[in-house]
Amino acid sequence: MSQKVVIHADWSQGTISRHIYGHFAEHLGRCIYEGLWVGEESPIPNTKGIRNDVVEALKKLNIPNLRWPGGCFADEYHWEDGIGPRESRKRMINTHWGGVVENNHFGTHEFFQLCDLLETEPYICGNVGSGSVQEMSEWVEYMTFDGESPMASRRKENGREKPWKLKYFGVGNENWGCGGNMKPEYYADLYRRYQTYVRQYGDNKLYKIAGGANVDDYRWTEVLMREAAPLMDGLSLHNYTIPGSWEEKKPSLTFDENDWFETMQKSLRMDELITRHSTIMDRYDPQKRVGLIVDEWGTWFLVEPGTNPGFLYQQNTMRDALVAGIHLHVFHKHCDRVHMANLAQMVNVLQAVILTEGSQMLLTPTYHVMEMFKVHQDAEHLAIHGEFGTYENNGVTLPQVTVSASKKDGRINVSLCNLDPNRSADLNLELRGLEGSFELASGRVLVSGDIHDHNTFQEPTKVAPREFKEVSLTDKGLRVNLPAASVAIIELVEK
Ligand code: AHR
Repeated sequence: MSQKVVIHADWSQGTISRHIYGHFAEHLGRCIYEGLWVGEESPIPNTKGIRNDVVEALKKLNIPNLRWPGGCFADEYHWEDGIGPRESRKRMINTHWGGVVENNHFGTHEFFQLCDLLETEPYICGNVGSGSVQEMSEWVEYMTFDGESPMASRRKENGREKPWKLKYFGVGNENWGCGGNMKPEYYADLYRRYQTYVRQYGDNKLYKIAGGANVDDYRWTEVLMREAAPLMDGLSLHNYTIPGSWEEKKPSLTFDENDWFETMQKSLRMDELITRHSTIMDRYDPQKRVGLIVDEWGTWFLVEPGTNPGFLYQQNTMRDALVAGIHLHVFHKHCDRVHMANLAQMVNVLQAVILTEGSQMLLTPTYHVMEMFKVHQDAEHLAIHGEFGTYENNGVTLPQVTVSASKKDGRINVSLCNLDPNRSADLNLELRGLEGSFELASGRVLVSGDIHDHNTFQEPTKVAPREFKEVSLTDKGLRVNLPAASVAIIELVEK
């Protein structure tokens, strides 16, 4: 028996902001150093110190924005340590992440250089936890002031004549925790104060993002919206997918079906979290002017055996691919409120899209999902209803499939996730409003023989998308046989 799903090709529910496909790179483990920055003297081919192979692969994702320098690191980062001649930059201890020496070789100039290479927008997170108002204010002046000023002069002395374009600026990170252990009332006041001196210079218009809640801390959202909504453009939310618990995490590669099920269930929880945080935001901002910025999401497992526990290096399997697909579908659904989301993190940390080892590099299953789904960026989100089946485990049920569709430039893209690791899904997709007036342009599916499959430096392309052949046209739409534990994308063009 097939499951019927109706895609309303003529009913747009809003635009999916491309910024939902954002990334995050922190001074943590081997993300910045080794993963992105190798230095100009490195034998690994690089452009002004930034490795070419990684940039080339990342460019294929159409990355819309990149958040930096943290994370927890942001609230102990002092930007002046990362400018000027590299050999004389301050060496500090990265106390949050492994206690290693941070030589500050990757600083503001190097970050903008990376953004230029990636053709992506910078999203800078400022230091509220251990930094001063003056320090934050001067950083913005250094980056964006055009004309004569003390900070603009320093920028010029360091080789950059013109200011950079900077839109996204975060005022602190996780200020309820590593960013200062504050109460929401206290942080709301600090936010009001710090953001006052985050100036808009010339035609550079900043989009100011307030540090938001951890997971289901709805009171944090309530207080921030009540006390500071008119002074912010965005409010963040962090939620990681952690099978087991924060205290007792589980490995990335060895898991059973119960762990798989729990991971799917926790990924779907993002829908509830956004719904409830948005409902609170609606009370203070019914026009939905303030964006919800999910600037940290992804899986968090035990580190790979033998690696530094502070480096958060984990492998990435078909399970991560499903987590990515489910999250992106949830963000699409909430595109009226979710303006941006940032996968944590870009390279070698948590749910990375790329892993490196010396001069070697591999693309993870999560990379492939981000690449397959990029067609949804800035497209119209289409209404969908129907039967999504059930995936049951120990008496608990989840939907078997999640589906999302969007329309742009006469093309409709339909993405699908099958959460069930044992059963394929037979779907009858009706394209209401487009009957008979479209053709199949392409289809790709990410699926592998085993749900534990992942890419290694010995076998870097074990998990990779293949042509999706199990799709056929019907008089009303499409018939699709979606393999167990798979993620797919189908492209249709209007005739
Ligand atoms: O992404 C790793 C860490 O998770 C970030 O530094 C912090 O913001 C969050 O707790």
